[in-house]
Amino acid sequence: MTQYELKQAVAEAALKFIKPDLKPEAIIGIGTGSTANLFIDALATVKDSFRGAVASSEASAERLKDHGIPVFELNEVDSIVVYVDGADEANRKLQLIKGGGAALTQEKIVAQVAKTFVCIADESKSVEKLGAFPLPIEVIPMARSAIARTLVKMGGRPVYREGVVTDNGNQILDVFELDIKDAEAMETKINNIPGVVTNGLFAHRPADVLLLGTKDGVKKLSVINTMAEDGEFY
Ligand code: 5RP
Repeated sequence: MTQYELKQAVAEAALKFIKPDLKPEAIIGIGTGSTANLFIDALATVKDSFRGAVASSEASAERLKDHGIPVFELNEVDSIVVYVDGADEANRKLQLIKGGGAALTQEKIVAQVAKTFVCIADESKSVEKLGAFPLPIEVIPMARSAIARTLVKMGGRPVYREGVVTDNGNQILDVFELDIKDAEAMETKINNIPGVVTNGLFAHRPADVLLLGTKDGVKKLSVINTMAEDGEFY
């Protein structure tokens, strides 16, 4: 199977996964990226069974609207029943690196509000240890160089993602070669650097469920369920 087919399979599996929770008043949180796009396309097939969506980026909001799915601002809704998004890396604790599409800040906000966070990814995103994928950090533009110097002292090699402006008007540093032994501690430490808006480690709020597209089918991994329940195939 191609990577595209694996992404498509997890996008459709996510739909099956959230369907029992769908109520007419339900608001669904939507991530950003190619896998999230496939989920939006799948969601359009059941668009009459929920109220609408909160998007984590302008691009996702546009795609939802193109499908006729009502898009709400986060400030307009009381709760989000489920958030579905892709990832750049996921470990066995379902801690993630995200931000390859530069939407990490809004993704983290919507994920935090959501009752359940379902991550959808092809098997290439599954890793033992986070950090082979360069860690994206959204920064206030005037603080970029100062933040980069601090990251160098932490052992990282920050690279400015030239030409990219986030939906919040900020810039992105991609940090190579960070030794992420403790993802929660690293997430906190980087977020405490003045001028950092947020970093792409999703460790304090990991996914609740990871649907991983493999050549043998979609594998469901969860940190809530027992190990015996893991490995279920759709
Ligand atoms: C965007 C993200 C994406 O979820 C991540 O980059 C994965 O993208 P794709 O589904 O295209 O592989 O974090 O900011």
